[in-house]
Amino acid sequence: MEKTIKNKVLILNFGGQYNMLIARRVRENNVYCELLPFDTTIDKIKKFDPSAIIFTGGPNSVYEENSPKPDDEVFSLGVPILGICYGCQLIAQHFGGKVESVSATFNREYGKTQAFFDAENELFYGLPEKSVTWMSHGDEITALPDGFTAIAHSKHCPYAAIYDKERNIYGVQFHPEVTHTVFGKEILKNFLFNVARLSPDWTMGGFVEKAVKEIREKVGDGKVLLALSGGVDSSVAAALIGEAIGKNLTCVFVDHGLMRQNEGDEIEKAFSGRGINFIRINAEDRFLSALKGVTEPEKKRKIIGEQFIRVFEEVGKTIGRVDFLAQGTIYPDVIESGNKVAETIKSHHNVGGLPSVIGFKEIIEPLRLLFKDEVRALGRELKLPEYMVNRQPFPGPGLAIRVIGEITKEKLEILRKADAIFREEIEKAKLKGVSQYFAALTNMRSVGVMGDGRTYEYAVALRSVSTEDFMTCVRTKIPYRVLDKVSSRIVNEVKGVNRVLYDVTGKPPATVEYE
Ligand code: XMP
Repeated sequence: MEKTIKNKVLILNFGGQYNMLIARRVRENNVYCELLPFDTTIDKIKKFDPSAIIFTGGPNSVYEENSPKPDDEVFSLGVPILGICYGCQLIAQHFGGKVESVSATFNREYGKTQAFFDAENELFYGLPEKSVTWMSHGDEITALPDGFTAIAHSKHCPYAAIYDKERNIYGVQFHPEVTHTVFGKEILKNFLFNVARLSPDWTMGGFVEKAVKEIREKVGDGKVLLALSGGVDSSVAAALIGEAIGKNLTCVFVDHGLMRQNEGDEIEKAFSGRGINFIRINAEDRFLSALKGVTEPEKKRKIIGEQFIRVFEEVGKTIGRVDFLAQGTIYPDVIESGNKVAETIKSHHNVGGLPSVIGFKEIIEPLRLLFKDEVRALGRELKLPEYMVNRQPFPGPGLAIRVIGEITKEKLEILRKADAIFREEIEKAKLKGVSQYFAALTNMRSVGVMGDGRTYEYAVALRSVSTEDFMTCVRTKIPYRVLDKVSSRIVNEVKGVNRVLYDVTGKPPATVEYE
């Protein structure tokens, strides 16, 4: 029987910088939520049928003309509301309170701020009476509306949290979604389960059931094509769509010969026996001959992109009718592009250009409401192997941009072995906060000594970075004992390498990849 999601939280987005985090926190509690624009129509909101609503923070002042406001009817839907920062001020203003600029009252608070909670209140249940919160606001509530009570305060902020028991509406001036608010997670949890009395029923098992049904309804007996890179998103999308429509899904995996050790075979193995059409195209010779003699990074990338399209053109001719193109778009992509991703086909590294070479009616994106860690959980639910579900980012052009200078089979072989050793040792060391780690083959050869003989061989560079978003990163602090082991194993086990370097540069000024 179909499970419908009853406990849905609507998060109205007023433009604050931590909004995606609020959605993450709610989902972490196994409660389904969506982040929608503040001006979502009341009809759409009613259709969404939220069991609770959260107003996010935002950069505006509620007393300004044209500041973002939700439809007034939102306040009378009879569902619990939690307003955060701007959202809290919005509630105060709507019900007749007063909001003013902090500078007018000389009570500016920014950053970590000690707050005192009314521990009797359901929002603060189980918390100590005081703890650190994260404040970041230029305005503050200076008079409470009728019916509201202060349930937290700080030195300068008498209304750090407010509530109206009757209407079940809460507001917090601080940001519970950021980790600097020490008990932030507990406060959001209390809102979901104590105040709104939701139950944690958002699970990946339930998601699979619902998604499979929806895909079947949408696709009917149509044919779906998916370009599989072996990355987490496209792999999970393939497994999910395969579960729904079996043979009507064709996955094309172009093995450009620039994958890591055993990766092509692993991808093939993970998708065989799933009852879908899986086409692996071994195009190593083709890619390597197109790249012969090329040393300029951008030229390498271009050639690889072009070859992908050519290969797809040729495959397209052999697979016949395609009704839908499937993509592994995920929720952060959707949110970042203002909910417009469906129209603006994502130009992913190795499917770029695909839509123009293969005719299709529509795009399907079954992961578009999931966060990355939910995609990983879904992959596990669909029994994809752990190495695939936990795979770190790997660039579309593959090892081509990690072999500096001209690419040859010999260099690729050296890099594959060194990279496999480095990854194996990092994984064994179970380091925390490591986002991406790999080896690159520098184009430098240098003199060394092995046994009694002189060597003149390549230097391998190790790169390991920690980052939230890959826009910036710092190098990971790998313990020397791990580096020593990696270095010793690489020079002993990989022919052609006599030197191992550890890259300690952050981004900026370096990039994560070398080319
Ligand atoms: P950079 O080198 O730009 O890398 O600092 C940031 C992140 O992006 C990945 N990357 C790519 N991913 N196609 C991709 O799908 C590409 O062409 C590409 N180039 C870089 C890189 O691995 C890192 O995670």
